[in-house]
Amino acid sequence: MRQFNRYTVTSALPYANGPLHIGHLAGAYLSADIFVRFMRLTGKDVIYICGSDEHGAAITLRAAKEGTTPQAIVDKYHELFQRTFEDMGISFDIYHRTSATIHHETSQDFFRNLHAKGEFQEKESEQYYDAEAKQFLADRYIKGTCPKCNYEEAYGDQCENCGSALSPTELINPTSTVSGATPELRKTTHWYLPLDKYETWLREWITTGKVDGKELHDPESWKKHVLGQCKSWLDSGLQPRSMTRDLDWGVDVPQEIEGADGKKLYVWMDAPIGYISATKEWAAQKGKDWKTYWQDEDSSLIHFIGKDNIVFHCLIFPAILKAHGDYVLPTNVPANQFMNLEGRKISTSKNWAVWVHEYVEDFPGRQDELRYCMVRNMPEQKDSEFTWKGFQDCNNNELVNNLANFVNRVVVLTNKYYDGVVPSFDESLDIIGPIDVDEAAYHDSECLRLFDDLDAYCDYLRKYDFRGALKTLMEISTRGNQILQNNEPWKTIKTDEESVKVVMNLALQYVAALRIAIRPFMPFTSDKMTKLLEMPQLKEDGELNEMLMTLAEGELIIPAGQQIGKPIHLFSRITDEVIQEQVDKLQSSDVQEEETAPVNPLKAEIQFDDFTKLDIRTATIIEAEKVKKANKLLKLELDLGFEKRTVVSGIAAHYTPEEVIGKQVSLLANLAPRKIRGVESQGMILMAENSEGKLCFVNPDETFENGAGVA
Ligand code: 2FM
Ligand code: ZN
Repeated sequence: MRQFNRYTVTSALPYANGPLHIGHLAGAYLSADIFVRFMRLTGKDVIYICGSDEHGAAITLRAAKEGTTPQAIVDKYHELFQRTFEDMGISFDIYHRTSATIHHETSQDFFRNLHAKGEFQEKESEQYYDAEAKQFLADRYIKGTCPKCNYEEAYGDQCENCGSALSPTELINPTSTVSGATPELRKTTHWYLPLDKYETWLREWITTGKVDGKELHDPESWKKHVLGQCKSWLDSGLQPRSMTRDLDWGVDVPQEIEGADGKKLYVWMDAPIGYISATKEWAAQKGKDWKTYWQDEDSSLIHFIGKDNIVFHCLIFPAILKAHGDYVLPTNVPANQFMNLEGRKISTSKNWAVWVHEYVEDFPGRQDELRYCMVRNMPEQKDSEFTWKGFQDCNNNELVNNLANFVNRVVVLTNKYYDGVVPSFDESLDIIGPIDVDEAAYHDSECLRLFDDLDAYCDYLRKYDFRGALKTLMEISTRGNQILQNNEPWKTIKTDEESVKVVMNLALQYVAALRIAIRPFMPFTSDKMTKLLEMPQLKEDGELNEMLMTLAEGELIIPAGQQIGKPIHLFSRITDEVIQEQVDKLQSSDVQEEETAPVNPLKAEIQFDDFTKLDIRTATIIEAEKVKKANKLLKLELDLGFEKRTVVSGIAAHYTPEEVIGKQVSLLANLAPRKIRGVESQGMILMAENSEGKLCFVNPDETFENGAGVA
């Protein structure tokens, strides 16, 4: 894989129209932050660029909904984003915004450049116009029935139910969301980017990495799902795409261009150029030359995004950059798939989300725990799933039991045996190596193993395999625990003080290595470890490389004689109650929508083993009553043959208690119990749901003994 000296790394500019949820974090921000911190630690020149996307119909819609101005909306969310990202340790070099003057100028210059070169086609077309509101309607302002799945709330550009990309004229019974009127088609003129003309070079660039015979990227290093999505767009034939809109919020089409009046740049023309204007602003502040980061062939441009942005970053923006001519093209677009939450798609409108700023409030000082759990479940190749229980397990079983435990034991013992001073050891004794080491000196060979593991960790990171890198890191910690466990210094200290020094010195090297290697993933914990070891602060300036060199030369990472601090707990357990509170919070903010959710697209593929984990049994409902103050819930008593269960089920809108008594149903019987409205629900009844949100039981078609397995 080609290595560059300079990296220009971007994360998708989030629309400033609502708070950030964990799906955003897992999609475009955390992975990029890990990558840039890693690159800095290996001594590369890297800039990390982001900012708020303050244009587009989503903003004006939000403003209308809240009865305020678009400016007030973007100001509010820009400020919230800045704070949330900072709280979570996302280390942008600049967090900019597209309302900035420098951005308006930069995107207008781009438009002018392409216009002057004759790249655009000017075309008249018919678009929906709201005669009541006296305005053309952006795609998002039109709602109607999806022609593909009949979902009645589809937008003019996309059906959120079946995921199809739509154009407004395809909608059945379109209505304007501005006035509620039926829109009419009117003629309007716009500037189109002829993507069809670029199809040949785009295909070659995507599939071979080459343009005009020059190798620009290695398709082998691109994620399969990203290449797959690009190929499918290319195979279905690219169409000219309008780069302007009839809107009153956004970047003006340069006024000297004829017909510019009332026209704004399409948000997907303006937003990615936001990466460039942000770089300009950063360079001006730092006294650097922005051009080297965008126009020098030794700069690698990498876009971190979610999968819904693939076409814009892999086809449309590269087409704009190449049409301009002075810019490099991205060397990789390591898009992530989506993260689901407790079995459902994250949805802002249904409030089915974990809001990052609320997490920070609810779990003060525990940002790294979320970062860790997000990476463990990062949707790198396919959609993934966040559950609060999974979060608790990650924290308690991995961070507390493994990492914090290891570090704590080493620090406690160092304080106890050596008053907190890293012991020196007699190298001639470095052969006592117990267990798995034959000839080689124990300390040496374990340090070599550490080097190899760190090397593997770097490889994973270079390949954007963040889950792989984190796993390797935790294996280093496991290894550290094993070093203590195998040697039992707490026993040998009484009989063989000298060999304990070898072991303790070794364990301290492991802790010192982890301090640096965990930094991309858990920067706050890395800082705590730095304090604990009383080592110099990490500037993220080549320290990982220096450490690898030190290890390769057989030198110590933390020197003998170094004084370290008193023990602290890096992580602490999260209780069932705390987790339950979060689950309840999620459920209670959602109840309204739960039973009427439209049919969802198929979930990510699972393996047979995943399926066999479900224990589904036949059971008969023997009692039923309404749950007080919850008009959707029934409390049911079920007979499983071998035991009775209480289950709370959201079926009250579909069945009366009388109707369900005596019914045989299928029960997911090994689902962890959870409290719903104060009642412990011990399982979940399987229900089928049709496209209108009607529910019915999934039951055996003849009466069966209760407790029979369903598979
Ligand atoms: O999908 C989104 O949230 C867009 N605001 C992303 C823009 S990315 C870039 F092009 F700026
Ligand atoms: Zn649809």
